[in-house]
Amino acid sequence: MRKLIFATHNTHKLTEIRQILPEWEILGLTDIGLHDEIIENGQTLEANAEIKADYVYRKTGVSCFADDTGLEVEALNGAPGVHSARYATNGHDFKANMDKLLKEMTGIDKRGARFRTSVCLILNDEKHFFEGIVYGQIITVPRGDEGFGYDPVFVPDGYTKTFAEMDAEEKNSISHRGMAVSKLQDFLLNLLLY
Ligand code: IMP
Repeated sequence: MRKLIFATHNTHKLTEIRQILPEWEILGLTDIGLHDEIIENGQTLEANAEIKADYVYRKTGVSCFADDTGLEVEALNGAPGVHSARYATNGHDFKANMDKLLKEMTGIDKRGARFRTSVCLILNDEKHFFEGIVYGQIITVPRGDEGFGYDPVFVPDGYTKTFAEMDAEEKNSISHRGMAVSKLQDFLLNLLLY
């Protein structure tokens, strides 16, 4: 089976990606024993995806990709954006981040937001970028136990359920990461044809 490293330790993301790309053996950083802290100090999602992919490619020489995602809230001028993981604290505290977001949005009626994912693939020394976006609304009271991050407060446009009330398959079929990765998948499948 063709191997690709996905530069992440996040098991939720690995599960999602393995469902989206069944033709590839996807190895996470834990699977290859790479536990170095990769400093994501880029100013954009694209820059952070590139930093992670570059680091892993230089260390392993194996084709790899990395993603970076941000929740961009219209009324907060695009925040938390590139700072989504560390919005409330220095760690990836999903609940604290969500609580801070809801607090910042108290009394705000305009609740439009979007999740945006940038994927950087490094293959044969060349870099390729893919983007996925999903628009929706931030609700006031979290709902659902599936998924992770800001999923319980995000209702995608055209739906009544939050991402956290959807199973992985339904979320993947419309999500930012699902979209970016399906562009990645199209690109990889196309390479196999020619
Ligand atoms: P990352 O840099 O791609 O890991 O994403 C940064 C932060 O965005 C994560 O820590 C989560 O809080 C949030 N996030 C990323 N993807 C999702 C998602 O699919 N649903 C909800 N929150 C997400």
